[in-house]
Amino acid sequence: SILQKLITPLFSGPPELPRNKVTVVGVGQVGMACAVSILLRELTDELALVDVMEDKLKGEMMDLQHGSLLLCDGKLPHRGGDGWGPSAGGGEPAEPRPEKRQHLQTHRPSDRQIQPQLHHHRVDVLTYVTWKLSGLPKHRVIGSGTNLDSARFRFLMAEKLGIHPSSFNGWILGEHGDTSVPVWSGTNVAGVNLQTLNPEIGTENDEENWTETHKMVVDSAYEVIRLKGYTNWAIGLSVADLTESLIRNMSRIHPVSTMVQGMYGISDALPCVLNGGGVASVVNMTLTEDEVSQLQESASTLWDIQKDLQD
Ligand code: 2OP
Repeated sequence: SILQKLITPLFSGPPELPRNKVTVVGVGQVGMACAVSILLRELTDELALVDVMEDKLKGEMMDLQHGSLLLCDGKLPHRGGDGWGPSAGGGEPAEPRPEKRQHLQTHRPSDRQIQPQLHHHRVDVLTYVTWKLSGLPKHRVIGSGTNLDSARFRFLMAEKLGIHPSSFNGWILGEHGDTSVPVWSGTNVAGVNLQTLNPEIGTENDEENWTETHKMVVDSAYEVIRLKGYTNWAIGLSVADLTESLIRNMSRIHPVSTMVQGMYGISDALPCVLNGGGVASVVNMTLTEDEVSQLQESASTLWDIQKDLQD
């Protein structure tokens, strides 16, 4: 045969096992944005796709495989292993603007075998549910938290300041979404603290109305959903950003959802050091009293949802 004439095997052992593997559960708009962002950043030796919708899953896998020659590292995405139960939905339903993100929530993992380690959507609640269902240690169940909110914040603030988003340093903590908390006391450009320049920044008394930027962050997802029916690219890039810190053991700091009890009395998106083992540590941010109380208010919003979830 051509194969026998073309190739002389030198050893018959098992092929080299992948050094790392990423599994995307749900091949909707968000899941596929995560998958493509991860592939284009060449983060993984193996990418698996999982979904309950067989044809959609096969179609997305084939579509990516057909382009694999054109990917820099030519990795072939494949379907996830058997035995996966119903998976979390991968996309935002195209629906009129919901009051709160909980109306966006698709069904959540309902199978103990599912061990996705990173969530984005209704992230804080899904992170809690996955931690409870999976039995994994807290440091290995990570939600994308306010990583995307902070990226939106840095983009919008940088636009107003006329600089690149990477040159504006600012954090949003707490719940991903409506009750997120901008840490105005820590906003800075090249080390110049903006609250030093304008002590009223972020307050209702601020004549420059910087707080409007945080409102735009909170509203941005709803605006994108109103315009195109869902959000996917920014969240996909945000998940790939987190995946890179985990897979490359980078110890970068990201505002992610983790089950941190006791700090400021909350379990919510806080600045965490992410490396190959998961959440390595949490940064003890210096927050104003007002910022701490906003965080506690954000956490209690989430606890009101989480406390009713059955084990
Ligand atoms: C987002 O913020 C809807 O949570 C999704 O893009």
